[in-house]
Amino acid sequence: MRNKIKSYDARKNRRTKILTRKATLGDVKEIHILINKFAKRKLLLPRSLSYIYDNIRDFFVCENREKRIVGCCALHIVWEGLAEIKSLAVKRSYQGRHIGTILAKRCLNEAGELNVDRVFALTYNPEFFRKLKFSRTNKSLLPAKVWRECIDCPLFPNCEEIAVIKKL
Ligand SMILES: CC(C)(COP(=O)(O)OP(=O)(O)OC[C@H]1O[C@@H](n2cnc3c(N)ncnc32)[C@H](O)[C@@H]1OP(=O)(O)O)[C@@H](O)C(=O)NCCC(=O)NCCS
Repeated sequence: MRNKIKSYDARKNRRTKILTRKATLGDVKEIHILINKFAKRKLLLPRSLSYIYDNIRDFFVCENREKRIVGCCALHIVWEGLAEIKSLAVKRSYQGRHIGTILAKRCLNEAGELNVDRVFALTYNPEFFRKLKFSRTNKSLLPAKVWRECIDCPLFPNCEEIAVIKKL
């Protein structure tokens, strides 16, 4: 499904059309660059091209008028009734225009369609998720398989990511 949204570009003082849609294979390299820019600043987990190809069906993207990817977000099914929002990133020059909100809401809608009843995220930005009515939870309450990725993370075991969860 393709959604056209209008987001207000305060910097340039004009309205910009942004398209939100499911990702396709042609988006993989741009998603890879976007996520890993934030990973270098330790705001997201790094993702390999191989990981993104494997999981491309999890991703939504936002593209600008020039058809460049300016945001991405993935919904990954973890367990019965449980899914995770992962790899949420909006290009810096496009932040603050509710693109992140729209991407997260697309994931939440898809979760509802899949009969998921709880969606969680591990984040350094709990405030963004609080605005989407997520609340803080204890990471130890999440299934053990969530830790699989943590073990490969350079910040393990001293990471300060916060677990947030929302009931649908
Ligand atoms: C987090 C991120 C995706 C937000 O994207 P965005 O498009 O700028 O967010 P939105 O414009 O939809 O913001 C929605 C609300 O969250 C708030 N918000 C966003 N980032 C915030 C932050 N770092 N601290 C506090 N509030 C924040 C906004 O002010 C906005 O509030 P409002 O509705 O009252 O105006 C983006 O900043 C980003 O890519 N950050 C780096 C990667 C990251 O941290 N990802 C999330 C981890 S899973």
